[in-house]
Amino acid sequence: MSNSVDFQSWVHARQTRIESTLQSVLPAAEIAPQRLHQAMRYAVLGGGKRVRPLLAFSAGELAQADTGRVAIAGAAVELVHAYSLVHDDLPCMDDDVLRRGKPTCHVEYDEAAALLVGDALQSLAFQLMAEYRLADDAATQLEMVKLLAAAAGSRGMAGGQAIDLEATGKTLSVPELEFMHIHKTGALIRAAVLLGVRCGASMNEKELAQLDHFAKCIGLAFQVVDDVLDAEASTATLGKTAGKDAQRNKPTYVSALGVAQSKSFAEELRQKALRALDGFGERGLRLRQLADFIVLREF
Ligand code: IPE
Ligand code: IPE
Ligand code: MG
Ligand code: MG
Ligand code: MG
Repeated sequence: MSNSVDFQSWVHARQTRIESTLQSVLPAAEIAPQRLHQAMRYAVLGGGKRVRPLLAFSAGELAQADTGRVAIAGAAVELVHAYSLVHDDLPCMDDDVLRRGKPTCHVEYDEAAALLVGDALQSLAFQLMAEYRLADDAATQLEMVKLLAAAAGSRGMAGGQAIDLEATGKTLSVPELEFMHIHKTGALIRAAVLLGVRCGASMNEKELAQLDHFAKCIGLAFQVVDDVLDAEASTATLGKTAGKDAQRNKPTYVSALGVAQSKSFAEELRQKALRALDGFGERGLRLRQLADFIVLREF
């Protein structure tokens, strides 16, 4: 089997697994309040690359974690991510009408529904983290809950989003852009990797630090590539409106460095991420493949 066919079938199997986990943890559409539950399912199911759960699975495999545990932790991160997208698309934020090839949640339902969908998805994520056994000891599991909370909150994703909104219409320096991207996007990606690891066997400090460094590099690279795709790809391939950053005057890597330099920066981050996995040999294969996917993707 060629490497890429093998990777594709690995991805497909885990996407199917995460889809069915999300299906089963989301309240059924028939349960009251039906419209809220329908809207939550609309925002989460049947779309998205599921990059964060895939990172959790690959980190979990490296740490010999139980896949059932990783599926729950990965689903929790994906629920927080889906909530962040629903709110990101609201008129008071990026004002987008297309997401994952469908009308955005507030367009399909309404703004109040979209607000509540975000609230409820975030609560559901933490309910999963508390309800299912994810680690052998309670202290580790509590660490995992804290990790996701920090990644989602004002010193993580939500904080990055606040910086993004404040910066709209302004110019940011490259260090400022890096700070914004590490928070709004990097934090949840880092949490996905670390939660996958924590579901498994305990690891020494050096290995943990290497995986953390990998996750930081790839998390920043993810948003740099998102900026490039916004400028270069089509609405049809992205499933979201292309060209929105320039249209809304968002400071991005593309507005600061241009497309070519942004691409070489993403490539530099990919190389750094790969180097962080050097010590893991074959065990790092899936994380290496995901790093390649994140930087070389076309959507
Ligand atoms: C989009 O994330 C928002 C960012 C953080 C850049 P993804 O590109 O992972 O979106 P989906 O989940 O695949 O739709
Ligand atoms: C979003 O960044 C980061 C989030 C926390 C949702 P963008 O605003 O660039 O994401 P897209 O391009 O709308 O997916
Ligand atoms: Mg945004
Ligand atoms: Mg946006
Ligand atoms: Mg974007």
